[in-house]
Amino acid sequence: MRWTGLLTLVFAAPSIAVVRFHCSQLVVQRVDPLVEPGSIPSSHVHQIVGGNSFNASMDPQKDMPAESTCTSCQFTEDFSNYWTAILYFRAQNGSYKRVHQLGNNQFETANGGLTIYYMQDAIYDQAQKSRVTAFKPGFRMFVGNVSARTLEDAARFRQLTYVCMETWTMRAPETMGFPTRKCKEGIMTSVRFPTCWDGKNLDSPDHMGHMSYPETGTFESGGPCPASHPVRTAQVMYEVVWDTKPFNTLDWPADGSSPFVWSFGDATGYGNHGDYVFGWKGDALQRILDVPCTFSTNCTRESQSKIQSIPNMNQCTQQPVVGEDIDGWLDALPGGYHAQYAPGSAGMR
Ligand SMILES: *[C@@H]1O[C@H](CO)[C@@H](O)[C@H](O)[C@H]1NC(C)=O
Ligand SMILES: *[C@@H]1O[C@H](CO)[C@@H](O)[C@H](O)[C@H]1NC(C)=O
Ligand SMILES: *[C@@H]1O[C@H](CO)[C@@H](O)[C@H](O)[C@H]1NC(C)=O
Ligand SMILES: *[C@@H]1O[C@H](CO)[C@@H](O)[C@H](O)[C@H]1NC(C)=O
Repeated sequence: MRWTGLLTLVFAAPSIAVVRFHCSQLVVQRVDPLVEPGSIPSSHVHQIVGGNSFNASMDPQKDMPAESTCTSCQFTEDFSNYWTAILYFRAQNGSYKRVHQLGNNQFETANGGLTIYYMQDAIYDQAQKSRVTAFKPGFRMFVGNVSARTLEDAARFRQLTYVCMETWTMRAPETMGFPTRKCKEGIMTSVRFPTCWDGKNLDSPDHMGHMSYPETGTFESGGPCPASHPVRTAQVMYEVVWDTKPFNTLDWPADGSSPFVWSFGDATGYGNHGDYVFGWKGDALQRILDVPCTFSTNCTRESQSKIQSIPNMNQCTQQPVVGEDIDGWLDALPGGYHAQYAPGSAGMR
């Protein structure tokens, strides 16, 4: 994927057809209604954005738009929940400190959170003309492998990546493991979900089986969906900007490895993953995907979408239900995790 943030395509503000918008932080805590429904706490810490009907159980029958009173997303009809794990820095004395997120390029005043894309075609294809099917109420999915610690494990999920940002708008090259050098402007993680749906199941036991990658080629190259998963959906993509700058002045591992660790203990970066629970109101998402807008038209107006300001997004927050310190210097990650390195590597450093 070759593009620079300077060409960033904004749906919500100006008028280009790539659906890109930000969601501020709703809450950061150990709750995971997709993988560990009902568990308070869940195993590891997540950062969650979207509608405030989010909770630990999230019955698939839940009417997310009706039960939410606000959303931290820019589209006010989007009460979906989107979440990822969070990053920690491991100091040379073995203590951990949370890495905060920043608002992304063009959303700098957002309180953390993440940027969402719903792609119809490759990101550099500004026409975004392909017809894609929006998800249905109750739809949810997961991508990635929490246990992955090698490139081989991660390769099945080829589009979960990192960019070591030398500049604020740098978006390439992408790596599958954590960058190992100090990144001047922070680290961006990207999570791209599969794009072919089986057309029947809103979820599956591993939260992945109802979705597939294209049979040949990629979503970007217009690869066809397999017969088992014939319905081409939008490509959901997350971008998260991690403010690693404050840690660039501290001591780093002498062997040149990365000091960053996911909240579930992964120190390789290969365990990157994301969770998605659809919760748009009515046909709002399909309407946005269907509107034939171009550079010179206003997609927001043409799709009759409702947008809120960043200060309003920032006001939609939840109190954590799990009372624990996730922000101080910690002897172990919340849930008791410690940094885990690739099998066969030197181990704890
Ligand atoms: C989650 O919200 C539902 C209402 O949608 C409520 O019935 C349930 O008790 C809540 N569960 C938790 C664990 O808070
Ligand atoms: C570990 O190192 C960090 C960074 O230098 C420091 O802020 C922290 O207080 C240290 N923790 C302990 C337990 O010494
Ligand atoms: C995840 O990675 C683990 C560790 O290598 C492996 O055993 C497992 O098969 C992988 N699972 C998936 C779904 O790729
Ligand atoms: C596009 O339309 C929306 C909603 O009607 C409006 O708020 C916004 O200012 C318009 N943007 C431009 C660039 O004209």
